[in-house]
Amino acid sequence: MSIQIVKSIREMQDLADRYRQADKTIAVVPTMGYLHRGHARLIELARSRTDLVVTTIFVNPTQFAPNEDFKSYPRDFERDQRIAEHAGTDILFAPEVDEMYPDGFESKVEVERVSTILEGAFRPIHFRGVTTVVTKLFHITKPHLAIFGQKDAQQAFIIRRMVKDLNFDIDILLAPIVREEDGLALSSRNVYLGETERKNALVLSRSLQYAANKIQKGNHDVPELRREMEEIITGGNPSQIDYIAFINPELFQETDTITPPEVLIALAVRFGTTRLIDNIIVTLP
Ligand code: PAJ
Repeated sequence: MSIQIVKSIREMQDLADRYRQADKTIAVVPTMGYLHRGHARLIELARSRTDLVVTTIFVNPTQFAPNEDFKSYPRDFERDQRIAEHAGTDILFAPEVDEMYPDGFESKVEVERVSTILEGAFRPIHFRGVTTVVTKLFHITKPHLAIFGQKDAQQAFIIRRMVKDLNFDIDILLAPIVREEDGLALSSRNVYLGETERKNALVLSRSLQYAANKIQKGNHDVPELRREMEEIITGGNPSQIDYIAFINPELFQETDTITPPEVLIALAVRFGTTRLIDNIIVTLP
């Protein structure tokens, strides 16, 4: 079956109904396009789990603040179509903004506490936009399974929280971070980086790996680990370090004590005007 492009919500819902009536399972992979190997990995994972794979491409205006990069967010639909198809997508759902947010739209889905910390502290309306559009995409594609990336660890936690709190009958699966060979986490926004910034940005994965190694060797002094990470990152000449956070991944709360089984280290750093995020999950011995 070659890839089918759907732009209408009604048509997508009818297709999903038909597959469900035929006892087929559906997976959805929500994306904002400009697909890379990280997205492809999610699609491949979906392919291995369900009968129908729906990939969505929608640059969602409600998760961008007015000063952010909604207008300049990279877009290349033809290339996306090829990558999505090659990775195993059956249906590419790619609505226009008016289709998703017609005149008069005024509803929001909000997960409270966890949407206000870390990424949410720097991007106050961001997660409300994400949870609202993901809810819409769930109601439109009617999946049994939805796949998200660990790259956006807080987003993944928030979506799981929402699915649990609001009783969405959907399994959520997380895929590990896909990186370039030199360690840089793949991101659609990496195209914004100049050549020097691209090299400098390696301090992010390096600092995370450094802290992970030290934690595994038994150093659990969070303020010291944070200082050392800051030092490594400063070596890459960033324009701003938004945060370096040690997080209890079960509760998604910042912590100064490292306790088994796992700690999540997450960071957001700007190089020039480009804001990058990365993280690592450290499993304690
Ligand atoms: P986008 O940034 O396009 O990411 C789509 C999905 O791909 C997310 O689940 C993200 O975590 C995952 N992803 C991105 N880079 C990855 C990498 N290097 N390795 C593994 N997975 C990666 O996240 C969004 O879009 C939007 O907020 C969305 C959920 C679609 C709502 O608009």
